[in-house]
Amino acid sequence: MTEKRRIHTYAVVEEARKLSRRYGEDMEKAELAALCHDFFRGVSETSLNGYVRQLALAPVYLNNANLAHSKIAAVILEREYDIKDQDILNAVRFHTTGRANMSRLEKIIYLADAIEPNRSYPGIEEIRELAGQDLDRACLASLEHSIEYVNCRGLYLDQNTVMARDSLINSMERKEKTNE
Ligand SMILES: [Fe+2]
Ligand SMILES: [Fe+2]
Repeated sequence: MTEKRRIHTYAVVEEARKLSRRYGEDMEKAELAALCHDFFRGVSETSLNGYVRQLALAPVYLNNANLAHSKIAAVILEREYDIKDQDILNAVRFHTTGRANMSRLEKIIYLADAIEPNRSYPGIEEIRELAGQDLDRACLASLEHSIEYVNCRGLYLDQNTVMARDSLINSMERKEKTNE
């Protein structure tokens, strides 16, 4: 792990601790997921491509370190590091894209990765503020920011991110209705 990645990882652990305390998540699970989330981030693209083939992951993960690192990490953590908790593995697996019906832990890791103190991008302060108030609204703001970022640059938009956004909007609307 490079120094930069190490600093980022421990900052994500700290952020995940804060969010877990705030939203009542299991602290140990959050710490472990945060600690492992970028396990394969510094690995070369050639090596990641080797894993994508070996693990029979979808071809879309070839030459795409940004998406592949989380999928590979989840498989290797289960197989070789004996982490069997599917919630932890899914938090690692979907930390880059999000997905529909994310668990609380998945939301916490997704968000912690996006707002840890070393991150800086337009709109981050609003997401950080929301993170202290409402986990769903903060996640939604972060997902919308990612979609906009990817679309503006003409990059590949993973459909899990769109589905994560839509499912959050739906579940927030449902919650509002039951509160009415
Ligand atoms: Fe990552
Ligand atoms: Fe990360």
